[in-house]
Amino acid sequence: MNLVADNELTAKVLRSYSKIEDVRLRTIVAILIRHVHACLMEMKLTDEEWEFAWDFMERMAAVTSPERNEFLLFADIIGASQLIEVLNHEKPGNPVGFALVGPFFRAGAPFRAKGESTASADTPGKRVRITGKVFDFATKSPIKDAVLDTWQAANDGLYENQDEQQPEYNLRGRFRSDASGDFELIALMPTAYPVPTDGPCGELLRAAKRPPDRPAHIHFIVSAPGFETLVTQIFVNGDEQIEEDAVFTASKNMIGDFTREGDHFSLRYDFPLKRGESKMPKAPIPS
Ligand code: BEZ
Ligand code: FE
Repeated sequence: MNLVADNELTAKVLRSYSKIEDVRLRTIVAILIRHVHACLMEMKLTDEEWEFAWDFMERMAAVTSPERNEFLLFADIIGASQLIEVLNHEKPGNPVGFALVGPFFRAGAPFRAKGESTASADTPGKRVRITGKVFDFATKSPIKDAVLDTWQAANDGLYENQDEQQPEYNLRGRFRSDASGDFELIALMPTAYPVPTDGPCGELLRAAKRPPDRPAHIHFIVSAPGFETLVTQIFVNGDEQIEEDAVFTASKNMIGDFTREGDHFSLRYDFPLKRGESKMPKAPIPS
């Protein structure tokens, strides 16, 4: 009997997992098995290619730590993370785009006062004053006490957790909207930076001749009880790199008009929230 040719092996494997009690888990496992088997048959994967694949996974595990998740980065650079975000949150008419969380969101950022800077005084780079309003998209009513959790890379492309020179939680912070829904903070004018390329994901990007860069951006998670948590990023209007985002996230509905005012920039950016479930994404980096 040729188990592959008549799909008997796939059917046998599917049957062997058919007693999982949790319906959702049973469905996911079955779909996974069907698609993995179909992929392998379409690829006609050789022994050597399989050896390469599990070695690649072992090398991804070797560079993964509580501070860095190469598996998450892999999902990001093949567009899977953004696809999951879009599947779960992109609805027609959404006023602001949803973005992947990315591997550098860290739990426990300090609450900062209105107008405070997330950047330590000695952080190189221009500053941007960001002001805006958090409001209910349907009624336009302001949302008080919404929490805006923001983070960004320094101008050398490193997040605070990657760089011993930066103070703890530099370029990270949580802000609250006031009774009028208004918020204000000072951040670093963002610059483009590459995703980490010293692991297997870098190998894949080089093989594909894909630039590793992310266009300049600032991350925001905006949450308030009774509203769907908005995970987004703000990109710089006119930045030509937006089309070439290494993780397929930058899009037209996440663009801010940064205007130069002397030695700094200013940005007005509102966050309309839709009624829904308020839940924070799991932070890839612990506090
Ligand atoms: C980021 O924007 O922080 C990021 C997202 C995905 C992969 C790497 C970095
Ligand atoms: Fe980022």
